[in-house]
Amino acid sequence: MVRQTLSVILRCVTLLCLFSLGVAVDINSTISDQIRLDCGASTPTGHVDSDNRTWYSDNGSKFAPSLKGVGTTASSQDPSLPSPVPYMTARIFTSNYTYSFPVTPGRLFVRLYFYPSTYGIYAPENAYFGVTAGNLTLLYNFSASQNAMAENVRYFIREYSLNVTSDQLHLTFAPSTHQNGSYAFINGIEIVPTPDLFTTPTPTIANGGNPDPFPIDPAWGFQTMYRLNVGGQHISPHGDVDFFRTWEDDTRYIYTAAQGVKFGKDNNVTITYTSSVPNYTAPVDVYASARSMGTDPQINLNHNLTWFFQVDAGAFYLLRFHFCEIQYPITKSNQRMFFIYINNQTAQQQMDVIARSNGIGRTVYEDYAILTTGSGQVVLWVALHPDLSTQPEYYDAILNGLEIFKIQNIATNSLAGLNPPVSSPDVGPNKTPAGRKPKSIFAVIGGAVGGSVIVLVVCIGVCIIRRRKKAGKDSGKSDDGRWTPLTDYSKSQSNTSGKTTTTGSRTSTLPSNLCRHFSFDEIQAATNNFDHAYLLGKGGFGNVYIGEIDSGTKVAIKRGNPTSEQGVHEFQTEIEMLSKLRHRHLVSLIGYCDDRNEMILVYDYMAHGTLREHLYNTTNPPLSWKQRLEICIGAAQGLHYLHTGAKQTIIHRDVKTTNILLDEKWIAKVSDFGLSKTGPNVDNTHVSTVVKGSFGYLDPEYFRRQQLTEKSDVYSFGVVLFEVLCARPALNPSLPKEQISLADWALYCQKKGSLGQIIDPLLHGKISPQCFTKYVETAEKCVADHSIDRPSMGDVLWNLEFALQLQESAEDSSNLTEGTSSTTSPLNTSTTTSTTMSFRGRSITSTDSDGLTPSSVFSQLMNPGGR
Ligand SMILES: *[C@@H]1O[C@H](CO)[C@@H](O)[C@H](O)[C@H]1NC(C)=O
Ligand SMILES: *[C@@H]1O[C@H](CO)[C@@H](O)[C@H](O)[C@H]1NC(C)=O
Ligand SMILES: *[C@@H]1O[C@H](CO)[C@@H](O)[C@H](O)[C@H]1NC(C)=O
Ligand SMILES: *[C@@H]1O[C@H](CO)[C@@H](O)[C@H](O)[C@H]1NC(C)=O
Ligand SMILES: *[C@@H]1O[C@H](CO)[C@@H](O)[C@H](O)[C@H]1NC(C)=O
Ligand SMILES: *[C@@H]1O[C@H](CO)[C@@H](O)[C@H](O)[C@H]1NC(C)=O
Ligand SMILES: *[C@@H]1O[C@H](CO)[C@@H](O)[C@H](O)[C@H]1NC(C)=O
Ligand SMILES: *[C@@H]1O[C@H](CO)[C@@H](O)[C@H](O)[C@H]1NC(C)=O
Ligand SMILES: *[C@@H]1O[C@H](CO)[C@@H](O)[C@H](O)[C@H]1NC(C)=O
Ligand SMILES: *[C@@H]1O[C@H](CO)[C@@H](O)[C@H](O)[C@H]1NC(C)=O
Ligand SMILES: *[C@@H]1O[C@H](CO)[C@@H](O)[C@H](O)[C@H]1NC(C)=O
Repeated sequence: MVRQTLSVILRCVTLLCLFSLGVAVDINSTISDQIRLDCGASTPTGHVDSDNRTWYSDNGSKFAPSLKGVGTTASSQDPSLPSPVPYMTARIFTSNYTYSFPVTPGRLFVRLYFYPSTYGIYAPENAYFGVTAGNLTLLYNFSASQNAMAENVRYFIREYSLNVTSDQLHLTFAPSTHQNGSYAFINGIEIVPTPDLFTTPTPTIANGGNPDPFPIDPAWGFQTMYRLNVGGQHISPHGDVDFFRTWEDDTRYIYTAAQGVKFGKDNNVTITYTSSVPNYTAPVDVYASARSMGTDPQINLNHNLTWFFQVDAGAFYLLRFHFCEIQYPITKSNQRMFFIYINNQTAQQQMDVIARSNGIGRTVYEDYAILTTGSGQVVLWVALHPDLSTQPEYYDAILNGLEIFKIQNIATNSLAGLNPPVSSPDVGPNKTPAGRKPKSIFAVIGGAVGGSVIVLVVCIGVCIIRRRKKAGKDSGKSDDGRWTPLTDYSKSQSNTSGKTTTTGSRTSTLPSNLCRHFSFDEIQAATNNFDHAYLLGKGGFGNVYIGEIDSGTKVAIKRGNPTSEQGVHEFQTEIEMLSKLRHRHLVSLIGYCDDRNEMILVYDYMAHGTLREHLYNTTNPPLSWKQRLEICIGAAQGLHYLHTGAKQTIIHRDVKTTNILLDEKWIAKVSDFGLSKTGPNVDNTHVSTVVKGSFGYLDPEYFRRQQLTEKSDVYSFGVVLFEVLCARPALNPSLPKEQISLADWALYCQKKGSLGQIIDPLLHGKISPQCFTKYVETAEKCVADHSIDRPSMGDVLWNLEFALQLQESAEDSSNLTEGTSSTTSPLNTSTTTSTTMSFRGRSITSTDSDGLTPSSVFSQLMNPGGR
């Protein structure tokens, strides 16, 4: 390594001399639109760097207009600087300055080269500045010296991928106004145009084991945080001829003591780029080497191959995993099958490289997104583990390359993070990883190391907030509810839940007085020993089977994955909580089994499956409009009960059409409200949540503020209402951009007055205009941007009841009977019925038990014009 470094230095110095003597080149020229500015260089001649790229001074360049009087040129006297170009000289700014680069609109890499050093009278620690590209903030209050210290490097690069929509890219350097004597500096600027690198394939977001599509907006900006040639050598820019990227060796990011094994391709294997992987995706060398777990299946089963990365909290990241099987005998699918975990969540199960790539030597990559929470900097975990669910031949995993990009914050139009603290450079994971070395000066891109670590508190599933005082009629003020972690709830309940049973090896305090305890034998018998034929589905928690108990009663049996994060304590808490929640419109828990350390929950079986299965992409007969309304009303009642009927307010957090189940009588029941998980409670004041929920249904406010209220459920329910009306998924990435999100699209159409055209064609002419208006108005309010503007679940319920009555009156007065094939859109149907406010005894009484005060809704019903 040392020898290599020396030779690089020698070569650089030689080249530098050669070119300094050379003929002056046109400093304004660009080679295939690539630009390299050697900022502060004194001579206008080109200088060649260690990767044979020529850099031109910004002095006199057309990219740096009116530089005189603004920027000072300065050079460092550091003779040990290994790569003089472009680091040797700097441009210093004491006031704002903008470089303007003519570019072809499209995506390009912008690389900023920094070498914090003493430049004349300018001390490195005084440089605090911002950098913007157009109106996107790249850096803010940035201290290059602090970053270099924290990363333990002398100089470094920040790399961004931007989509420039005009023919000019303006890069502005602005000294911070917060610190006196602040200045900005830059050593080198590089611009490399690229094709669209990000929009395909559509990544999935790791979401507690329930991945959802996460469509990438082609306009977004990205920052490269890490780029690794896993199991291979460092690749310097000249080894990546397309875009001059740097690929680091991954060794220093490996967390586990068992580092797996590095290996290269067999000689008789040729790397082939498949059609979905253009050859510029990554150099051959990335795919030609890999890391796997090793040859001992027992060891592999007992640990994860884990990497860790320091990243900024509160940002979305795109992780791109590069795969290629490169050694015999792995040529077929189901030989090597594994899990990909990101931040301890399952991003992918049954990852099978051959199945994706169609053969040995063929390349493939997978994109996943994740949101980090907390403050400052946090650790991003990536782990692989064998997946035995399909009984693969080898218990192993493989990875060839990994890229981690930060996605711009859309709300603030920024990619900037905080300066990492320097005081504690090696406070990373509580255990210092084996083989961790200071970063090499060559291999640094982006990623910041060090800083105190806020352990991610993962909170998946239901969270409970202390129920606000009962008095309040207006449900808009729920925001003052304080977090109460689920675990506290169980503590407060444990005195009352009494009985202690001992089953298996675990001392259980489960409430056998509340729900039934099943023995493992009973469960085995019910599911024919977890026969695959009995499998109904898979969830984040584990597999769900259909089973039969008590000779004939059908039940759904959820078997917690033994490797699931779900702790014993949480499991017990859930049972305690769930067993107390009984409602006609909630799927009820029948019992549990905790023998042999199993975590098994037994629920009512729902004969008609999920609501979604009856809306679209299905062969099931379509539901009538009235059926749909009744199902929505049922689900609303279930949610209303969760919000107000139980001892504490319960927020479902994942309302969607697949969590609304239908029993044999088509009664809607809300499910999955109980499979909750609270993370370790670091301290009592700080409980952050990973934004959990499903994309397309997610409350934008929850997203922005990460503050959860009942109104987040109301938002999701609004999306469900549109889904029921339009019979299309909440998110459909294959549609044109403006139509991808159903909520956005429906709101847009509603504003244009064209909503009637996007409804389920099967509903044309079947919805009474008044009912339609009421229904849409309700859905629209639910998806209001601000939670304060959304109705309570109680209000939603009453409005839907009202809509149903409008429909029924219309049908009574006849020409909207089910089954007629009128093709007029709902808005054009001529029938107008007087709004007979008959209550028919059905709705009010059924909700009384939930403690609902009809309040304003009631008066609205009495006075239909009044809202
Ligand atoms: C740089 O270019 C020169 C001449 O074109 C060549 O001899 C040298 O090997 C190149 N160096 C690298 C690192 O590519
Ligand atoms: C580069 O462009 C600037 C502005 O267009 C011009 O003043 C300067 O003479 C050019 N330099 C060379 C070497 O062509
Ligand atoms: C540009 O270079 C010339 C000649 O070396 C020098 O006199 C001038 O000060 C430089 N201008 C800037 C803005 O650095
Ligand atoms: C700033 O960014 C927004 C969103 O990307 C864009 O719509 C707008 O045109 C930009 N404004 C300018 C001045 O570039
Ligand atoms: C310099 O730029 C910063 C950030 O872009 C801006 O806030 C500030 O007002 C600018 N200062 C001047 C003097 O234009
Ligand atoms: C850049 O953004 C525009 C507008 O969003 C988009 O149409 C275009 O495809 C994007 N280009 C690339 C290369 O991503
Ligand atoms: C390729 O080489 C490996 C060992 O290097 C050998 O096991 C394998 O059979 C060879 N495959 C082919 C198709 O030649
Ligand atoms: C990638 O493929 C294109 C044509 O398909 C070819 O021109 C180019 O040289 C290839 N690049 C690399 C690095 O193999
Ligand atoms: C592997 O990581 C996953 C996700 O963090 C975790 O659930 C599992 O317990 C780990 N397995 C082992 C053997 O450490
Ligand atoms: C996530 O996994 C890492 C590595 O296995 C572990 O150190 C960390 O504590 C886990 N975090 C949580 C919240 O479980
Ligand atoms: C700028 O960064 C420094 C060092 O990280 C920090 O102490 C200071 O508070 C920051 N200032 C602003 C305005 O963010």
